[in-house]
Amino acid sequence: MAQSLLEKYSAYLPLNDRTPMITLGEGNTPLVKSESIGKELGAEVYFKLEGCNPTGSFKDRGMVMAIAKALEAGSRFIACASTGNTSASAAAYGAHYGLTTLVLVPKGNIASGKLAQAIAYGAHILAISGNFDRALQLVQTLASRYPITLVNSVNPFRLEGQKTGAFEIVDALGEAPDYLCIPVGNAGNITAYWRGFRHYNQAGKSARLPKMMGFQAEGAAPIVMGHPVENPQTIASAIKIGNPASWQFAVAARDESGGRIEAVSDEEILEAYKLIARKEGIFCEPASAASVAGLMKLAREGVNLRGKKVVCILTGNGLKDPELAQQIADIPLQEVSADLESVEEAVSSLWGR
Ligand code: F0G
Repeated sequence: MAQSLLEKYSAYLPLNDRTPMITLGEGNTPLVKSESIGKELGAEVYFKLEGCNPTGSFKDRGMVMAIAKALEAGSRFIACASTGNTSASAAAYGAHYGLTTLVLVPKGNIASGKLAQAIAYGAHILAISGNFDRALQLVQTLASRYPITLVNSVNPFRLEGQKTGAFEIVDALGEAPDYLCIPVGNAGNITAYWRGFRHYNQAGKSARLPKMMGFQAEGAAPIVMGHPVENPQTIASAIKIGNPASWQFAVAARDESGGRIEAVSDEEILEAYKLIARKEGIFCEPASAASVAGLMKLAREGVNLRGKKVVCILTGNGLKDPELAQQIADIPLQEVSADLESVEEAVSSLWGR
């Protein structure tokens, strides 16, 4: 069996003799070179397919570490607030290791695939009539009053696990990229990647550091605006967050790396979402597409990307939100009767393409 994520990067993770080396097969995700978008921008663009993790998002990297530490401490009960992916991941690891799992999600505001995952894994699900920020406040209070391990990214072990994404990129490219483009919601992942690049740099595994380019959705862009957003709005429900927990760390990652945190509109997100699927054959979540929407915006704004190495983190799998793909489809589903003549007629316009 291949080495697990915790085994592979044990030297860089907070493990000890009592930490169980658990795994659901997380990490080691593909880094795919762009065929189309990169050429258009004159850059060497790569996509890190975090949707290939066991529950379909990057959260599994952090969750495996948080659950290992929870088990080490003898915890039997985990909880989180979530826009969907954290809850799916917590529920899966909770099920695998026999823990009671409680998840608080904003009612009506999480993609159907993510809710289906939490249900399938048998989590206790509270759909609250409030947004993610409120759900996080509630679960933090709950965790301070009861013997519950909080597995949101305010749990420091989550970020420790998530920094392995940066290690894998450097291991694959032999060096850190010039730019790292990443969606920003609760701001844990940008914090974790920056930490990972710095640790690898300090360990002599890479000679340089990337510029960290974070992208929020325009209607949920507190860091860009410089103040919390009371009522965040965006089609990218995963990053519909108005008061990110790791706000200050994200600002530090931006400033220390000489990067940027900017906003992209829902239109730009959807355009990138379609482009990545149609031109690259990669189906990611709308929130994930914010990284590519941001890259294209940088190019339009005149940032010189010629010959630069750019990695876009595609944080989650497009299958989590199948309704959206169908809602915005501009390829009609053609219904045809089941005889050769009708089929031939229906495809006649395709010949000679
Ligand atoms: N992309 C996806 C697909 C996400 O699910 C999230 C966050 C992000 C990007 C942003 O990452 O919060 O570390 O800045 N999802 C969390 C959740 C909030 O509950 O699943 P971040």
